Amino acid sequence: MGFPELMTKDPVHADGRRLVRVDALPPSGVVEVETAEHGTLAVGVADGLPFAVSNVCRHQLAKLGQGQVRGGCLECPWHRARYDVRSGRMVSGPKGRIFGFKPYSSGVKLFANTAWRIRTFPVETRDGAIWLTAEAGSER
Ligand code: FES
Repeated sequence: MGFPELMTKDPVHADGRRLVRVDALPPSGVVEVETAEHGTLAVGVADGLPFAVSNVCRHQLAKLGQGQVRGGCLECPWHRARYDVRSGRMVSGPKGRIFGFKPYSSGVKLFANTAWRIRTFPVETRDGAIWLTAEAGSER
């Protein structure tokens, strides 16, 4: 495994509000989708329901669309913080050690959930694809 990607890589390009076909999702269950309205989003399916959220982890800005869906949550590819894709809350903080130091997991989680929760966007599944809904311009 190489050093994690700092940049969005090979995003799917949305067709207007049509984000991605469900059967085109990778085994990770999430993919980066470039949209005209909201920039790059992390889009996937968790617990059988579609989601679209901000692509940027609140810890050290890894690209969440390069992570994976685990236990019904979106897991960051770098230090495995997990997010509830419905509320945008970080449900578990970064794990392991970073350059030998603990990642201040509880502090990161507190900050992420009070000041900088990831944005969630309303989506639906239609005709085998995940779509931004009409209200998607009114997210937090
Ligand atoms: S960058 Fe996401 S958990 Fe560290």
